[in-house]
Amino acid sequence: MSLNGTKKPVIAVVGAGPGMGEAIARRFVAEGFAVALLARTEEKLQTMAQGIDKDYGKDTAQYYITDLRVEESVSSSFRKIRNELGPVNVLVYNAGARRVNGRSILDTTSEEFENFTKINLFGAFWSTKCVLPDMLAAGKGTILFTGATGALRGTPGLSSFSPGKFGLRSLCQVITREYQAQGIHAAHIIIDAPVDGKLIGGVRRRQWAREDAKEKLEDIDAHLLQPADLAHTYWFLHTQPRSAWTHELDARPMKEQMFSKL
Ligand SMILES: NC(=O)c1ccc[n+]([C@@H]2O[C@H](COP(=O)([O-])OP(=O)(O)OC[C@H]3O[C@@H](n4cnc5c(N)ncnc54)[C@H](OP(=O)(O)O)[C@@H]3O)[C@@H](O)[C@H]2O)c1
Repeated sequence: MSLNGTKKPVIAVVGAGPGMGEAIARRFVAEGFAVALLARTEEKLQTMAQGIDKDYGKDTAQYYITDLRVEESVSSSFRKIRNELGPVNVLVYNAGARRVNGRSILDTTSEEFENFTKINLFGAFWSTKCVLPDMLAAGKGTILFTGATGALRGTPGLSSFSPGKFGLRSLCQVITREYQAQGIHAAHIIIDAPVDGKLIGGVRRRQWAREDAKEKLEDIDAHLLQPADLAHTYWFLHTQPRSAWTHELDARPMKEQMFSKL
C-alpha cells in the first residue's frame, strides 16, 4: 500500500534520534521529501514522526522499527519502505555507538566490540545494499554517512568505536569508486565535535554547569554543534551539481579545536 500518494522523493534516515537524525529528516522534509525514520525505539520514532507530520502534513514521515545489528531487520525495513513510499533517493546512515567514557581494550568485551561495530559499520553496508539497485536503475542517488573524529584517529578508550567509524569512511570511498560514475553521490561527514544533544553534548553541558563556565553555556553554538545547522550541510551535499561533488567534509563549532578529541 502506498503511503506516498503524491510521489515525493524519499529519504531514509537510518539511526533517527532526536539529535541529528531528526534535524536532517526535517531539513529534507522542508524541501518536499517524504521521510522514512529507522531506529529501535518505537516510542521515540512515533513522537518524531507525529511531530514532523504535524509541522509538514499527514504522512510526511513514516517509521520503521529496525535493529541495525541484524541484517534481516535492515532488509525487511527497506522492503517495507519500498512498498509503502517507493524507491529511496537519499540514504543517510546516521547511527553510531560509542562509550561516553572510554575503556581500555582489555576492559572491552568482544560482545561490545561486535555490537558497536555492527551499528557503526555493518548496518551501513546492509543499508547501502538495499538502496543501491533502485538508485542505479534511476541513474542517481545520494548516500551520506555520518562520521566522527574517531574515523580519522584511534583514541585510547574507544576500541569499540573507532574501528567501525574508520571502516565506514573506507566503505564510503569504495562506494564512490565503484558507483560514482553511475550517478551515485556518496559523502562522508566527519563530525569533529560534541553535538548539542542528550549524550555527549549533555555531558559537556553538565560539566560546564558544575564548573560554572557561563561563557560557554551562554555561547553554546560556539562550543557544541547544533543539529539543525549541520542538517543544512547534508542538504547542501545532496544538492551539489554533479560537476563539483564533495566526497568528504568535516564540521565543528567555532571554538572547537580541529580533530582534538573524541
Ligand atoms: N552526539 C555527538 O556528540 C556526536 C559526535 C560526533 C559524531 N557523532 C555521530 O553522530 C551520529 C548520531 O547523531 P546524534 O548523536 O545526534 O544521534 P541521534 O540522531 O539523536 O540518534 C541516533 C539514533 O541511532 C539509533 N540507533 C543506535 N543504535 C541503533 C541500532 N542498533 N539500530 C537502530 N538504530 C540505532 C538510536 O535510536 P534507538 O536507540 O531507538 O535505536 C539513536 O536515537 C552517530 O553517527 C555518531 O557517531 C555524534
